[in-house]
Amino acid sequence: PPPAIIAPSILSADFGALGKACSDTIGQGADWLHVDIMDGHFVPNITFGAPVVTKIRSHVDRPKQAFAKGTFDCHMMISEPKKWVKDFVKAGCDLYCFHYEAAMNSTAAESPEVESDKKTSPKELIKYIHDQGIRAGIAIKPKTDVSVLYDILDSSNEEEVPDMVLVMTVEPGFGGQKFMPDMMPKVEALRKRYPDLNIEVDGGLSEKTIDTAAAAGANVIVAGSAVFGAQDPADVIQKLRDAVDK
Ligand code: DX5
Ligand code: ZN
Repeated sequence: PPPAIIAPSILSADFGALGKACSDTIGQGADWLHVDIMDGHFVPNITFGAPVVTKIRSHVDRPKQAFAKGTFDCHMMISEPKKWVKDFVKAGCDLYCFHYEAAMNSTAAESPEVESDKKTSPKELIKYIHDQGIRAGIAIKPKTDVSVLYDILDSSNEEEVPDMVLVMTVEPGFGGQKFMPDMMPKVEALRKRYPDLNIEVDGGLSEKTIDTAAAAGANVIVAGSAVFGAQDPADVIQKLRDAVDK
């Protein structure tokens, strides 16, 4: 599997001093920042939008290569993922990870009369994100079967293939929830089919749960409360990394 990428979720950082929290976390050894965008519609919570991302972006050096240190991994828990791509690219998002469920329902959720062929398919959306010059990720909620992703990952058109898959290990919406070990068969199935794929897990990751996630084959590790709630965040980041790379 690819090497560990540790992506602290700034959802658990001090929102009153977010810029400093971002630069501190990178200084403590984080690879990426995981930026949770919630619209109060796709999930029952609201965080912040592109103007805030623009402001915090300047606190962290922009990565020169794809997936390098300083990557802004924007987890888009929003109902209309296509609508916000350009704003987030401008704001400095490097990886735009949308939810499969939102892409499938986007237009339909607002206007059920719209025919299914007018919806943005996940493949179209991935191509659209790539066309804007950034990487694309696709996320699945706990109740979504992993097999829905196979057709997308197997696309013969490289532009339609996501650069990362996010397997949610909690119901999206809030930090500090309990890790769902029953999501691990999804990670195992993905790792078996796609040895080189970047597989991200998000929700309830800590020193207690990392071994389970690493054994299943996850390599991109999101951790919010475990990092920002720690006495020694650098130590937690190192332990998460060691558990994946061992
Ligand atoms: C939940 C978010 C997560 C959250 C994880 O909807 O997607 O990124 O910040 O928080 P912890 O690590 O505390 O479970
Ligand atoms: Zn997240």
